[in-house]
Amino acid sequence: MLNGSRIFLEAIRKYCATHGIQIEFRSAGWLAVMRRGAKQHLAFGYDLGLNSSVAHRIANDKAATAEVLQACGIACVPHAVFFNPQMNEVMRPQASWKAMIALLRENPSGVVVKPNEGTSGNSVFKVSTEPELELAAHRIFSSNPSLAISPWLDIQDEVRVVLMDHRPLVVYSKSRPAIVGDGVRSVLELALADTPSESRSTVFNDMIDDLDSATLNSIPPRGERRVLGWRHNLDKGAQPVLLGEGKIRDDCAELAAQAANAIGIRFSSIDVVKVNGAWKILEINSGVMMEALGRLHPELVYAAYGAALDKVFE
Ligand SMILES: Nc1ncnc2c1ncn2[C@@H]1O[C@H](COP(=O)(O)OP(=O)(O)O)[C@@H](O)[C@H]1O
Ligand SMILES: [Mg+2]
Repeated sequence: MLNGSRIFLEAIRKYCATHGIQIEFRSAGWLAVMRRGAKQHLAFGYDLGLNSSVAHRIANDKAATAEVLQACGIACVPHAVFFNPQMNEVMRPQASWKAMIALLRENPSGVVVKPNEGTSGNSVFKVSTEPELELAAHRIFSSNPSLAISPWLDIQDEVRVVLMDHRPLVVYSKSRPAIVGDGVRSVLELALADTPSESRSTVFNDMIDDLDSATLNSIPPRGERRVLGWRHNLDKGAQPVLLGEGKIRDDCAELAAQAANAIGIRFSSIDVVKVNGAWKILEINSGVMMEALGRLHPELVYAAYGAALDKVFE
């Protein structure tokens, strides 16, 4: 997405126009300078400046987040951190490779390896063999200071809760691209027919990574639904589906509020996953990005950023 066209910027612009706030964008649109009277407030990237520096840093670090949540008894996906060997000059060397292999052996269903400070599902690999682990670690370390390893979990549902001071502003589930079998066409043929041309490059990139050729060529029975990938990232083709009032929304919002409280964050978007029927925190994002949701429900996105900006200027 081009920076200047972010719904985030549009939301700030609209808010400022209706609240008598002057606004100026700098640094190619990454920095917003807002002024009302003597008060100046800065926003940077997707950060409205409501979170403390330590809360922001913990949220950005998947392993640190998991450690805090575990210490507070909050159900979460464990993330073990391993530092790039290039950091050995500044960190005590860890003999990481042995520990990474031990983690893989402890998890017969495989592990997920990802940049410890990553976003948007980039360089998130599912691995089940040592050579796959080596390749994933090599790729991640080529451009990241650390990686995180988690047991691979069969995630039934992933829900995002946008929270402001423990109040859920928006709650939606992420529906992965999927096809429904007709008993005639293969998974690949159905995916080609069902995926709008503008989303094909995004959806197919992941699908080719995630599904082997036997799966792509298999013919699902009539009526059987198959997802086309295992990651729930909106940037990779998943669609936001708003959750109405009810138990799922309440349970996810409650768990997310506990997690936010544990790391001391005010404005965040928190991903909660359902595994074997139980909800766990997957990650906390301190930059609240709602571009995909904004394409479907812009008014909700404006209202959510507006509620956060009310706190800034109250
Ligand atoms: N341990 C895991 N088991 C199964 N799927 C996972 C696991 N960790 C992540 N995923 C999948 O990968 C996606 C991206 O992982 P996430 O930790 O959210 O990283 P990012 O910050 O890059 O979005 C998630 O939305 C989820 O669908
Ligand atoms: Mg994520």
